[in-house]
Amino acid sequence: MTIADFDVVIGTAEHARYAAAIVEEMAESAKARGTGIARRTPEYVAGKLAEGKGVIAIHRETGEWAGFTYIETWGHGRYVANSGLIINPKFRMIGLARAIKTKAFFLSLKLFPGAKLFGLTTGLAVMKINSKLGYRPVPFAELTDDDAFWEGCKSCVNYPILEMKERRNCLCTAMLFDPEVDHVQTSMKASELFNIMEDISKVKPKI
Ligand SMILES: CC(C)(COP(=O)(O)OP(=O)(O)OC[C@H]1O[C@@H](n2cnc3c(N)ncnc32)[C@H](O)[C@@H]1OP(=O)(O)O)[C@@H](O)C(=O)NCCC(=O)NCCS
Repeated sequence: MTIADFDVVIGTAEHARYAAAIVEEMAESAKARGTGIARRTPEYVAGKLAEGKGVIAIHRETGEWAGFTYIETWGHGRYVANSGLIINPKFRMIGLARAIKTKAFFLSLKLFPGAKLFGLTTGLAVMKINSKLGYRPVPFAELTDDDAFWEGCKSCVNYPILEMKERRNCLCTAMLFDPEVDHVQTSMKASELFNIMEDISKVKPKI
């Protein structure tokens, strides 16, 4: 199996039928990792897909959902986070997370020109993917100070540490991509990249 067996597309309202299964897998995977995560409901995921702010991978033959992530904005659109990355356990380690995150990265740049892209993670896979796209590790002070973003950390098992450190740092690594400073990179093969980029050109900026 390769990522050529999947369609990696910008979500639409038609993908809402996958939302419940996606949310269930997010919760199962978080339990298995022993981490807390910001809780998402099927309605929230369905909304992101309908708004065109989700990226979803679908198996071309079986129609199964294979992976998902979504875009959120903070600080009045000056900061963009790609969150909620989840790959169906049946389809891990074949490059789908890289493909989905790469697509969400370019979609974020297109939808929110000039915004800084950031993420918080404890996961090596995400650190590798982000580094190869051009993100760099930064202190938390470089991220948005939008309280609504930090509210999302409340359901994490490590939240008391974040509070104790007054948001200066925690167990997650913060990573940032500033389009004014950083250079886009990719470790995807050109042929694979081309395949996932088709619908991005039709997207109109939101700000
Ligand atoms: C973590 C996760 C998203 C990876 O998805 P995936 O499709 O298997 O990842 P990819 O095949 O695109 O791999 C990307 C890179 O990460 C590495 N990687 C993948 N899973 C890994 C893991 N569990 N631990 C360490 N490295 C991992 C791959 O070897 C690859 O490395 P490379 O850059 O050296 O080639 C997936 O296992 C998952 O959904 N886990 C549960 C939810 C989760 O942890 N989400 C991330 C929250 S921050």
